[in-house]
Amino acid sequence: MDSGVRPYEEAFAPYWHPVAFSHELKERPLAARLLGRELVVWRSGSGVSVTQRYCAHRGADLCGGTVVGEGLRCGFHGWTYGQDGRCVRVPSQPGVPIPARAALASYRAVERYGLVWVCLAPEPAAPLPEWPELESGKLATVALPRLDWNVSAGRMMEIVLDVTHLSWVHEGTFGNPEQQEVPAYDVERLPGGLRAQISYPALAPGIGGAAPRVDKTTLTYEVSFPFAVRLSFKPTLFFQHGVYAIASPWSEEKMQCFYFASYHPGLKLFPDIFVKSELAILEQDRLVAEAQRPKAHPMDFAGEVHVKADRLPNEYRRGVISLRAGRPIEGPTPE
Ligand code: FES
Ligand SMILES: [Fe+2]
Repeated sequence: MDSGVRPYEEAFAPYWHPVAFSHELKERPLAARLLGRELVVWRSGSGVSVTQRYCAHRGADLCGGTVVGEGLRCGFHGWTYGQDGRCVRVPSQPGVPIPARAALASYRAVERYGLVWVCLAPEPAAPLPEWPELESGKLATVALPRLDWNVSAGRMMEIVLDVTHLSWVHEGTFGNPEQQEVPAYDVERLPGGLRAQISYPALAPGIGGAAPRVDKTTLTYEVSFPFAVRLSFKPTLFFQHGVYAIASPWSEEKMQCFYFASYHPGLKLFPDIFVKSELAILEQDRLVAEAQRPKAHPMDFAGEVHVKADRLPNEYRRGVISLRAGRPIEGPTPE
C-alpha cells in the first residue's frame, strides 16, 4: 500500500455517515457502529444525539438506558448524560461535584433525508449530499431494510456504480443479456462528487407467461464522496424515480447500506413493486460483492484490470484514493 494512505478509520472519520433511519429511532436508544466505534443513538426534545455506547462508570450498555428530561440515563446506577456526553447526575451522591471524567465521547449528529447522520471528527470535511427534491414536500419515499453485507463501503459503491455488470449479474430481474457492449459515456466532476449518465435497455420480465419487454431507461448516477450515490431512473415502462444508496462503513471490510427510493406520491403501487424487485436485484449484487477479494476496497489500480467501460467506478476509486491520502479530489482523467 502506498505510503500516502492513511488508516481507514482516520481517513473517513471527518465525513457524515448514516447510522440509522429516522423511523428506526423511537423512544428507546439504538445501537450503532461506525468506523470501529460502538455508538448509541438517542432522541430527546432537543434533537438527536450520538455518544459512545458504554457507560463511563462501569461500562454498562447504554442501549439499555432510558431517555429522560436531562438526557440518557444508564440502567445500572442511574448516571445520566446530557447531549454533549457530560454526566449531569450521579444519583448515589447528590450534591457532590461530578468527576470531570464522567463523560461519554459525543459526536456531531443531524437528522436529514430520513436518516440520522454522524460525523466522528470535530469538523466535517464535506457537507451532506444535496438532495433538495427530498425536502420539496412533493415526493414520497420508501426504504428497504438496511443492507447488512460483508462488503467494504467502497466495494459496495463500486458495484452500485458498475455500468457493465447489469447484463450479467441482473439476468432475470432487469438485466438484458443481449446488451453486453457499454456505449462510451462521460463522467463529469461535481463539487464533492461525480455524475454520469447511461441509457440501458432493461428487460422487464413478462408477467403471466407474456414475453419480456424492453424498458429503455436513462440512468443518471450522482456520487457524493465518500459513500453516497443518487440514481435517477427515467424508464419508458416503469415509474420515474430516484434511488439513494449510502454505504456506512463499520470497518474497512464491512458496511451497512441505507437504501431508499423517492417517487411521486400518486404512484400507489410503487412502494410494493420497488421493495420486491429491488430486494431481488440487490441479492444478485450481494452474492457477487461478498465474494470479491480483497475485501477491503483497493486503494490503487495495480491489483485489478481496468477498461474504459469501467470509467465511472474507476473515477470513483480515484476520488476515494485521494480522500484516503488526504489530497483534494481531482477531476476525471481525460480519456
Ligand atoms: S454503569 Fe452506568 S451508571 Fe453505573
Ligand atoms: Fe447491481
